[in-house]
Amino acid sequence: MAVLLTGGAGFIGSHTCVELLNANEEVVILDNFSNSKPDVLDKIRTITGKNFRFYEVDLLDRDGVEKVFAENDIEAVIHFAGLKAVGESVQKPLEYYHNNITGTLILCDVMRKHNCKNIVFSSSATVYGSPKSVPIKEDFPLSTTNPYGSTKLMLEQILSDVFVSDNDWCVTLLRYFNPIGAHKSGLLGENPNGIPNNLMPYICQVADGRLEKLNVFGNDYPTHDGTGVRDYIHVVDLANGHLKALIHSRKEKGVHIFNLGTGVGYSVLDIVKAFEKANNVKVPYVIAPRRAGDIAECYADATKALEVLGWKTQYDIEQMCKDSWNFIVTNRK
Ligand code: NAD
Ligand code: UD1
Repeated sequence: MAVLLTGGAGFIGSHTCVELLNANEEVVILDNFSNSKPDVLDKIRTITGKNFRFYEVDLLDRDGVEKVFAENDIEAVIHFAGLKAVGESVQKPLEYYHNNITGTLILCDVMRKHNCKNIVFSSSATVYGSPKSVPIKEDFPLSTTNPYGSTKLMLEQILSDVFVSDNDWCVTLLRYFNPIGAHKSGLLGENPNGIPNNLMPYICQVADGRLEKLNVFGNDYPTHDGTGVRDYIHVVDLANGHLKALIHSRKEKGVHIFNLGTGVGYSVLDIVKAFEKANNVKVPYVIAPRRAGDIAECYADATKALEVLGWKTQYDIEQMCKDSWNFIVTNRK
């Protein structure tokens, strides 16, 4: 019996694959490499000393997905595969809806045909829109402001409807906050193409001298220093959350929703200072106008994941900054 990781060559999927293999789970990965590279697979094998099957398949290719299920005894799916850039989703809504929604519909249909009814889905804190207060609990109202977020919200609804239609399913919706950091080996991490949109990859490129300075998007938010506050979580902690969610999903059918965050918020300037201190580097910055669509504060109430899954984070902001930087230094060309 194996666990299928769609998008398992990506940032969060590759780290989750390591944690699953270390826990002696049998893993199969499916990925089309639209946002990842094949060398990640051997890096996972090097780190774990373990092997797994891999299929270069696009979720939109139904026959390809069928083949994966026909050739393996898939017991559960952790579904990471999807397009994830918020700004790009505004420019390319059809591509985002097609890839994320249609891809998931095909996946679930093939799962149903093969009597595999356990899915753990990568959702996002983006489904909380502009939260009325922080920390954010799972039962807060949901809304979105861009096509990427809409795909997450729609897929949460679709997967919940699947459970309503057939109570044999287990649907686990994991709402991630802001994953950063990298595997301590320096072999796995986040390597976005072009100029990064997200804070930590941008800081890394500034520290590395590839970008001149960080633009801090707004210092007039109602936060302790005026800059935006987020819940940064080490990707290895996040990966472990998937292992815990998988174990729980085998015991209890239903729709289960969990925030995966640390419960602690850091501002942009907190992160800049922590990064400089942890790595003994300089991160020059200027204050720039607010970024459209940003909110002041977003951090999780992660009590439910602790109480139900027994999951809590281990790595602090210093370790997140060190590991993010180590990945850059290790992979310098
Ligand atoms: P990623 O882009 O690194 O990984 C996604 C993987 O899916 C990539 O390897 C890509 O090649 C693959 N993929 C995309 N479309 C595919 C398709 N049609 N068929 C097969 N493979 C496909 O992203 P990530 O950061 O690892 O995110 C994983 C999931 O978590 C995504 O669904 C993302 O939306 C969600 N998420 C990410 C964040 C974050 O900040 N990284 C936050 C919240 C939610
Ligand atoms: C982003 C996504 C969101 C996703 C979340 C988790 C956007 C608009 N939103 O949120 O859908 O769920 O990641 O991965 O991409 N900042 C700067 N300068 C920069 C970059 C960022 O000041 O160059 C600030 C932002 O204003 C924000 C904070 O840093 O206050 C974090 O930004 P980012 O890393 O992009 O994540 P989110 O906006 O929280």
